[in-house]
Amino acid sequence: MCGIIGYTGPREPVGVVLEALSRLEYRGYDSSGIAFFRDKGEVAVARASGKLSRLVEALEGISGLAGSAIGHIRWATHGAPTEENAHPHRSGPIVLVHNGIIENEKELRLDLEEEGFTFTSETDTEVLAHLVLKAFLESGNLTDAVRKGLEKVEGSYAIAVMCEARPGELVAVRKGAPLVLGEAGGEFFIASDVPAFLKWTRKVMPLPPEVVATISPSGLTLQGSKDGRTVSPRFEEVPWDPVQAEKGAFRHYMEKEIFEGPRAIMDTLEGRLGEDNTRVFLPELVRLGPNPPEIVFVACGTSYHAALLGRRMIESLSPVSVHVEISSEFRYRPLRYRKGAWVIGISQSGETADTLGALDLARREGFLTIGMTNVAGSSITRDTEAVLLTRAGPEIGVASTKAFMAQVTLVWLIALYLGRRESREVKESLSGLVRAPARLEGFLGSFDSDAISLMARKILDSRFVIFIGRGLDYPLAIEGALKLKEITYRPADGYPGGELKHGPIALVEPGVLVIAPLIDPDLRPKELSNIREIEARGGTVLTIGPARASKEFSPSFPLPDCIGWEGVFSASSVLQLLAYHAANLAGTDVDQPRNLAKSVTVE
Ligand code: G6P
Repeated sequence: MCGIIGYTGPREPVGVVLEALSRLEYRGYDSSGIAFFRDKGEVAVARASGKLSRLVEALEGISGLAGSAIGHIRWATHGAPTEENAHPHRSGPIVLVHNGIIENEKELRLDLEEEGFTFTSETDTEVLAHLVLKAFLESGNLTDAVRKGLEKVEGSYAIAVMCEARPGELVAVRKGAPLVLGEAGGEFFIASDVPAFLKWTRKVMPLPPEVVATISPSGLTLQGSKDGRTVSPRFEEVPWDPVQAEKGAFRHYMEKEIFEGPRAIMDTLEGRLGEDNTRVFLPELVRLGPNPPEIVFVACGTSYHAALLGRRMIESLSPVSVHVEISSEFRYRPLRYRKGAWVIGISQSGETADTLGALDLARREGFLTIGMTNVAGSSITRDTEAVLLTRAGPEIGVASTKAFMAQVTLVWLIALYLGRRESREVKESLSGLVRAPARLEGFLGSFDSDAISLMARKILDSRFVIFIGRGLDYPLAIEGALKLKEITYRPADGYPGGELKHGPIALVEPGVLVIAPLIDPDLRPKELSNIREIEARGGTVLTIGPARASKEFSPSFPLPDCIGWEGVFSASSVLQLLAYHAANLAGTDVDQPRNLAKSVTVE
C-alpha cells in the first residue's frame, strides 16, 4: 500500500509534495515524510508518525530549494507506524521512498549487516537505501546504482530515489507496485496514482515495470532495468477533471462521491449504447470471440459485491453460467472451469494484489482474462487480454461508493451484451439501465436526509446490525454491512435472508436492528416472511424498498418505484448514506477509516 510522490521542477517543493501527499492519503495514513533540498547539496528529511497533518504542522514555515523532492505516506507492513519507520529512508547521500514489500528482506539485511551497514528502522525499505548506496559508491551514477542495487531484490516495489550530490535528479522504478509519471512543460512528477498531481498536469504515462525513469535538468530518460535498452516516453492526456478530485462544498469525499453516483453511471454508459439506446457495444469483448461457456468473476471487498450482482444479472439475461470468487481464495485452488471460460477481475484501483494474482493464475492456466477497473493504465490493464473501464473518476474516500455504481453499471452492460438482443427481458432491462442515472439523480436531489439521520441514530443505538437480503438484495445487504463496518467500526454483518434460520436468527432479540433492502421483485414475498420472523422475535426491521412495490408493507425508507433492477442504484445510495450519516454521528474519520487503505497492494 503506501503512496509515493516525486517532483522535480522550478516550484517550491515542500508545498507541492505535501499537497500531492494529501491526495494520496487514501492509500495509507500511519505516518508520512518528505525529503527536499534545503541548501545546495544538502537534503533535509522530515518525518512524522500519524496523519499527514502532523507532518504539515512540523514543516510550517519551512521551504525548500527548487529541484527534486520526494514524499511518502505509509500503511505499515514491516514495522510499527513510528517516526523511525516512516519514509524517506536514507543511506549516506541516498534518500528514497518505497511502496511494496521486499520478500527477501531478511537475507539482504543480514548480508548488508555483515558488510558493516547499520539499520535504524525495522522496515524492508532501508535495505533498498543501503543497496543503492553500495552500487552508487561503485559507479557514481544514480541510474546505474538503482539498476544494480535492485538486481537481487525479490518482491514488489515502486521507489523514488534522490541523491545529495544531484539536486535536480530523481530516479524511479517499479515492479509489481504502481507508479505513474506526469509531465508539465519541463517539470515532472512521479506518483503512485494520478490524482496526486492532477492539479498540475493531466499529461500522464504509467511507468512500465522494470524500466528506470531518470529525471534530470535535461529531461526524462527511460531505460530497461535489466538490459539497459532505451524506452521512449509516451504521455497521454487523462480525461479526469482536477475538480473531480476536490471535496468542493461537501464535508467529506465520501459524501461527494455518493452524490457523484449518477455521473459515474452515465459516464460508464457513454459510448456503449447505440444512438437510439437499443444496443450495447462492448468492443473490448467482441475481440475475444463468441460468448464464453462460463464467466468467473474474481474480486475483493466492494468489487466482489458488484460481481455478485453481475452473476445474478448475467444468469437472468443469458445462458452463461457465472461463478464469483474472492480473489485471495481463488488464487490457491485448482481451476476446474470449462475451457474457454472468461475470468474477469473487478478492481476499482486495478492494483489489488490478490486480484492481480488471481488473474495471473487464470492466465497461466489458459483462461482468457479481462480486467475491469476504474484506473486506466493500472496494473490490471497491462496483463489482461481485454480491459473494461468503469468511468467513475478518481475515488478518494476509502469506502468505495461511486466506483461501485460504475461497476454495477458495467456488469449490467455485460449481462445485456451476453443476452439475446431481441428478447423482451433484454429490451426492458436495457431501457431500465438507460433511465437509471437520471432517476438516481432525481432521487438524490430530493433526498430525505432527516429520515436517513433518524435511521442512522437507530443504527448507533443497536448493539449489532444485521443486514439481510435475497437475490439482488443479498449483495446489497453484505455491501451495506461492509460500508457500516468500514466507517463506523460498529459490529454489522450481512446474510442471505434464507440463511437466517440456520444461525444468525439466534442473535435477534429486542434492541437488535435488522436492515433489509427489498428491491428484488422476484423474491420479495420470501424476503417479507423473513422480516416477519425477525419481528416475531422482537427485532426491529428497517426496510428500504420501492414505495408502492407491495400492498403488504410500506418501506421504512421508500425508494422511487421501479420495474427492473434500477432499485439497485437507489438502494445502494441509501445504504451508503446510512453508513455515512452513522459515521458522522459516531464522529469517526469517514474518508480515512482506521486500519484500512484504498488499494491493498499486499497479499
Ligand atoms: C480495499 C478497499 C475497499 C475495496 C477493496 C478492493 O479493501 O478499502 O473499498 O473494495 O480494497 O479494492 P479494488 O481496488 O480491487 O476494487
